[in-house]
Amino acid sequence: MRVSVIGTGYLGAVHAAGMAELGFDVIGIDVDAAKVEALSAGHAPFYEPGLEELLARHVGPGGRLRFTTDFAEARGAEVHFLCIGTPQASDSDAADLTFVEAAVRSLAEHLVDQETLVVGKSTVPVGTAARMQDLLTSIAGAGVELAWNPEFLREGFAVEDTLRPDRLVLGVTSDRAEALLRTVYAATIEAGTPVVVSDFATAELVKVSANAFLATKISFINAMSEVCDLAGADVGVLADAIGFDERIGRKFLNAGLGFGGGCLPKDIRAFRARATELGAGETFNFLDEVDRINVARRARVVTLAEELLGDLAGRRIAVLGASFKPKSDDVRDSPALDVASRLVAAGADVRIFDPVAGGTGKRAFPDLTFVSSIDEAAEDAEAVLHLTEWPEFREIDPAVLAKVVATANVIDARNCLDRDAWRAAGWTYRGLGVQ
Ligand code: UDX
Repeated sequence: MRVSVIGTGYLGAVHAAGMAELGFDVIGIDVDAAKVEALSAGHAPFYEPGLEELLARHVGPGGRLRFTTDFAEARGAEVHFLCIGTPQASDSDAADLTFVEAAVRSLAEHLVDQETLVVGKSTVPVGTAARMQDLLTSIAGAGVELAWNPEFLREGFAVEDTLRPDRLVLGVTSDRAEALLRTVYAATIEAGTPVVVSDFATAELVKVSANAFLATKISFINAMSEVCDLAGADVGVLADAIGFDERIGRKFLNAGLGFGGGCLPKDIRAFRARATELGAGETFNFLDEVDRINVARRARVVTLAEELLGDLAGRRIAVLGASFKPKSDDVRDSPALDVASRLVAAGADVRIFDPVAGGTGKRAFPDLTFVSSIDEAAEDAEAVLHLTEWPEFREIDPAVLAKVVATANVIDARNCLDRDAWRAAGWTYRGLGVQ
């Protein structure tokens, strides 16, 4: 079967490679010529473990995976996946659907009078799919059907999540669309992945409510962490204890600097905005609190640095981590770089090291200083701030690093360094909600 994947960003590039791995002939289409050129040469335009291996296997002579900027090449595919970004609008909390609409129009022009299925995977405000179906029909005719099949992949685990998702949600309006999607995902379904079939609106809401719930879980534990600090309790032990309750579960209860990235922050804002449009805004006031608690973590880390160092002007500080989470070079809404920017704004001399996100960090924040090793960041520093929990930071020997810094202060904003070992090596250790 031939499929097209429209949009080759974090979602689409991995989806295209995953579909090729599952045995389909895939054409990936993007308006960004540089991205298409990189992918066509077998290079992932961003860091994602496992992606380059899939590209190496399927791109090139005789391979099943090609990339192009030409929408006409979508013609002839039986299924077209829409993997277009829905960033936060520049003037509001709502999602900006300009790119999705433009892609649907460009695609539809090449599908006139065809019998084919377009499958939306992007995260969109509820109601979008119905509008996109109307748009498709108005341009391409009644033979082009839409389905909505949200994607739940996590950056850093995107290949794994694409090949082995924990559920498939199929938002459809006909048996034919459901049957075709079941054929596309036959191997995944055979492997035992649960399938949920629903209408468009439910499928759209499943995705945003999953992200809103996860964000709420993180802000809940971060709120508890604040009380732990005030009461002298330990939020890590607390999370372990409540996590044993199967109804709660331990996952997504790691207190610390909070969430960032290209999904959770903008998705909860867009959901709140859409709920307000629908008349349920007040019910979702708590999502504003979830957002506020999350962003307040960043200010809290700066306050901790001030508690250790006093006035930050001219003080040298090492920042470990730039990406919004480990195993990614994505710095969109990165809590680490937000903290680094706040420290610089307070006059500190900040050097940042990240194992892979130095390049993306520098492009997004040209005024910040990125260095190429932990030691270079830590040299003569008066405090080391651990802001993204890359495994290499957990492997630091605190006794060795103590010799590099000017003063052995460490703020572990991800609460995952071995604090006994750091203290034993002479460091003043501070975490968030841990004693
Ligand atoms: C998320 C969802 O998990 C995924 O299903 C959806 O499709 C897209 O959004 P992602 O943005 O890749 O994926 O990252 P995720 O692993 O969910 O982490 C989100 C943020 O939460 C990160 O900044 C992470 O550091 C933070 N986090 C996560 C915590 O602060 N504490 C936790 O316990 C877990």
